[in-house]
Amino acid sequence: MNIVLTGFMGSGKSAVGAELAKKLGFEFVDTDETVEKASGVKISEIFALYGEETFRNMEFEAVAAAAEKDNAVIATGGGAVLNAQNIINLKRNGIIIYLKASPEIIYARIKNETHRPLLKLADPLSEIKKLLSARKDAYEKYDFSFDAGEGSPREIAQKIA
Ligand code: S3P
Repeated sequence: MNIVLTGFMGSGKSAVGAELAKKLGFEFVDTDETVEKASGVKISEIFALYGEETFRNMEFEAVAAAAEKDNAVIATGGGAVLNAQNIINLKRNGIIIYLKASPEIIYARIKNETHRPLLKLADPLSEIKKLLSARKDAYEKYDFSFDAGEGSPREIAQKIA
């Protein structure tokens, strides 16, 4: 089976996922990376040049391909849960784990990053709160959730393992 990590940007999906894969001897797949490799374009540029819908279509393909794997840890992009078909695909051979962190912790982690297309706004913390509350149900709906607000990626991966 696969282990699928969901959660808001900055919740640590990629860092925890890489640690978890190492620990379990699983392949690690990051669907944002798959999109960037397949298109040769950074996600921030895909948003800027072609818009969010184009990105979501590319993400859908990346998620569908990852869902076909076995014994993989799959880190999804923070918005992947919004498409119910992504979840259906991932659940066929995977358990879904939500990495949960508060808006304040997320903001502290990502405020200095320049490649976050959804957060280029005057008040990013409010935007994080708004997006997180809109997505909360989708994140919390699936198999497990872990507090990813404290501890190193390795510690969180250890708990999940
Ligand atoms: C997004 C999160 C990003 C990336 C894209 C959209 C979102 O992934 O997929 O910028 O809608 O929350 P990370 O959660 O890995 O940062």
